[in-house]
Amino acid sequence: MTERGILAFSGGLDTSVVVKYLQEEYNMDVITVTVDVGQGDDQKKIEAKAKKLGVKKHYNIDARKEFVENFIFPSIKANALYQKKYCLATALARPLIAEKVLEIAKKEKVTALAHGCSGKGNDQVRFDITLRSGSDLPIIAPIRDKNLDRVTELKFAKKHGIEIDSVAKRFSIDQNLWGRAIEGGVLEDPYNEPPEDAFIWVKTKNLPDKPTYMEIKFEKGIPVAVDGKILEPIKLIEYVNKKAGDAGVGIIDHIEDRVVGIKSREVYETPGAMCLIEAHADLEKMVHTKHENKFKSIIDDEWAYLAYSGLWQDPLKQDLDAFIQTSQKPVSGTVKLKLFKGSIRVVGRKSEYSLYSHKIATYGAESTFDQRLAKGFVELWGIQSTEANKLQKKMSTKT
Ligand code: ARG
Repeated sequence: MTERGILAFSGGLDTSVVVKYLQEEYNMDVITVTVDVGQGDDQKKIEAKAKKLGVKKHYNIDARKEFVENFIFPSIKANALYQKKYCLATALARPLIAEKVLEIAKKEKVTALAHGCSGKGNDQVRFDITLRSGSDLPIIAPIRDKNLDRVTELKFAKKHGIEIDSVAKRFSIDQNLWGRAIEGGVLEDPYNEPPEDAFIWVKTKNLPDKPTYMEIKFEKGIPVAVDGKILEPIKLIEYVNKKAGDAGVGIIDHIEDRVVGIKSREVYETPGAMCLIEAHADLEKMVHTKHENKFKSIIDDEWAYLAYSGLWQDPLKQDLDAFIQTSQKPVSGTVKLKLFKGSIRVVGRKSEYSLYSHKIATYGAESTFDQRLAKGFVELWGIQSTEANKLQKKMSTKT
C-alpha cells in the first residue's frame, strides 16, 4: 500500500519543498490542506500550485470565522501580548490549522502527518503538540529532519521548478487576519531598520496630518461595533486593520525569546490587534477593581506565554480561560482611540459597569469622599514599611 502523507500547505517556499520531499524521498502520495485564516492569498492559485506539484488531493478550508471567534477573541479578552509586544498572530493560527489537518487526516486515512516547520522556530512546537494531542501517526518535518537552510531550499525549489515570489525571497512572511510577521534577510541584523517595502499593512509615508479617531464598542470583552457600526467578527478585524494601518499604527519591532531558546528579531504589522488590545485593556481598568486588575495581568501574561509556547491544549490554559471568561462579565462599553502618525492613544472610555465615580474622584465641592477618613487609613497602610525603615536606619548608624 502506498504511504499517504498529509501536509498543511501555504503555497510558500517551505511547504512547497516539503511536498517534493515527501513524494521523492518518502515515496508518498501527498494530500495538501490550505487553511484560510485570513492570509489574503488567492486560494485558487494555491490549489493550482499544489496540483502542479503533483499532490493527489487538495483541500481548502475557510476557517476565518473560527479563527476570529475561538482564537482572536479569547486573545483580546486576555490582552495577549507575548513579552508585552507580540499579539500572537502566527501562534494563534497554528493550533487551528493543525486541528483542521487532523480532521482531514482521519477522513483520508493517511499514514503520516507532515509540516513545513524548521527546527529553529516556534511553529514546530505548536504543530507537533496539536497533532500529537489528536493522533499517534508519525510526524514528518523534512526541513527540520534534514536540517535544511533557506539557501538550500531555494536551490531545491529552483531545481524542481517551484515558483517563489520576490518578497518571499527577501523575507520570511507569515500573515493572517490578526497580523503579519516579517523575518529574515536584512532584518537578521537587529540594528538594521526595517526597509519600507517590508510593510504592506501599515502606511509609513505621507501619513494624514489630521488625527484619526476610532470608537470601539465591547460587549463582555468582545468587540462588536466600530465607529457606531455593528460589524460581524471578520469584517470588524479587517476594518480596524485597514483604518489603523492607514494612520500608520501597528508596527512592532522587538527581540523575542523563542521556545527553543533562540533570541530572534521580529518585525510585525498588527494594526488591528494593537488598537483592540489597547482599548480592551483600558476598558477593563475602568470596570474591574484594583485587585482584579493586578491579578488579571498575571493571568494574561501566563495565557500569552502558553499560547506562544505551543501549549494551547494544556489544562492550565483552559483553567486560565475559565477565569478570564468570568472576568469579562462587566467588560462592556466604548473606548475612543486617537491615532496620529503611527501613535495610538486612548482618549475616552465609558461603560455602564464603570467603577469610576465622578462624585468620589472630583476635587470639586460636590465630592462625597470624606478626606478625613484617609488619615487613619494611610497610617495603618504604611505601618510595617515605616517601622521597617526606621529600624534599618537605626541598624545602619550602629555599624
Ligand atoms: N515569531 C513569531 C511566532 O513565533 C512569528 C513567526 C512567523 N513565521 C514566519 N515564517 N515568518 O509566532
